[in-house]
Amino acid sequence: MKCNRLVDAGRRQFLRGGVLGVAGVAAASVLPAAPAKAEIALARVAYPSNRVGNLKDLKVDEPVDIAYPDDNSPGILLKLGKPVEGGVGPDGDVVAYSVLCPHKGFPLSYHAADKTLNCPGHYSRFDTENGGQQVWGHATQNLTQFELRVDDAGDIFAEGADELIYGRLSNVL
Ligand code: FES
Repeated sequence: MKCNRLVDAGRRQFLRGGVLGVAGVAAASVLPAAPAKAEIALARVAYPSNRVGNLKDLKVDEPVDIAYPDDNSPGILLKLGKPVEGGVGPDGDVVAYSVLCPHKGFPLSYHAADKTLNCPGHYSRFDTENGGQQVWGHATQNLTQFELRVDDAGDIFAEGADELIYGRLSNVL
């Protein structure tokens, strides 16, 4: 007898839970829809046009430190001594690159003997005469090259980047 009462009580408890569950589902179906997710920022951005130097201050194989598109993005302005891809100026030999390694962000240094930027982290190397093409190492993308423009006074402006700069979802914060 006692046992039957327990079974009956359990059955009632189960049914009550079921009714409450159905009521919960019904209530949920009339609640307002969840707010839409915020849009994800795209990598395509409007770049600033920043003066980064002047032609008269450049010497072949002597990189000049710059920052583009903002102070948190170090790079170099470099005169290579022969016309190259993306090169500007009367000789088509002035280029600019990020110096943050695309692998893990170590700072790159210029090696004039073979015109490469080299990483002390895991030894990736990038060809400054060929648009920052990776020639060796762990990185999985070429080095970010900055687009340049030169005005009549020889002032050099950076106006874009051809790859994502290390550590960013877009190249302008
Ligand atoms: Fe440059 Fe790893 S951080 S190769």
